[in-house]
Amino acid sequence: MKFFVDTADLGEIRELAATGLLDGVTTNPSLVAKSGGNFLDVIGKICALVPGPVSAEVTATQADQMIAEGRKLAAIAPNVAVKVPLTWDGLKACRALSQAGTKVNVTLCFSSAQALLAAKAGATFISPFVGRLDDIAQDGMQLIADICAIYRNYPDTIRTEVLVASIRHPIHLVQAAKLGAHVATIPPDVLKKLVAHPLTDKGLAAFLADWAKTGQNILGS
Ligand code: E4P
Repeated sequence: MKFFVDTADLGEIRELAATGLLDGVTTNPSLVAKSGGNFLDVIGKICALVPGPVSAEVTATQADQMIAEGRKLAAIAPNVAVKVPLTWDGLKACRALSQAGTKVNVTLCFSSAQALLAAKAGATFISPFVGRLDDIAQDGMQLIADICAIYRNYPDTIRTEVLVASIRHPIHLVQAAKLGAHVATIPPDVLKKLVAHPLTDKGLAAFLADWAKTGQNILGS
């Protein structure tokens, strides 16, 4: 499973990229607004930090303007994935941009029917939002299961990767991986939580205490 980080904060991206565990980045207009930076500059800087796909979202709502914005965003760096919303205009823009060789992430997906349309429009990624469905008492992870099952039925024609978005907890990530989703985009705080386990901390403390009693040093003194 590929790990993308869901932020436009350059400091956080730099820190996580240094682990070597980051495969890409997703941003959206809200995350860019939160970062406080100039959109095009921020995307350029993120693309220089992370070689994998960096999603940058269009803000137009008409297909022709989405395509123009998408072309401008794609020209920033070869690893830009243009993000378009799951509307008829977004699907038209997806088709045009992907046919021109641009990676496209179709976002704001809340149903398997929408995911099927995005795949037919040539999306590189489909972004179903699990947390926002959970928020309204609908099972977000069931949507991931449905999309994965549908896409698997058409291995010769559907190449779209399921990018699980709106992740709120480590359990979302584990469940998505069990379902075989290709990518998870994870907020930095959730990504950092993945490593934590109290038995790891307790076990390490005991090992180090016993090691200290030996008076040895692996690198010598
Ligand atoms: C990423 O592509 C999405 O925009 C993001 O995961 C949405 O997350 P949220 O529902 O926590 O805002």
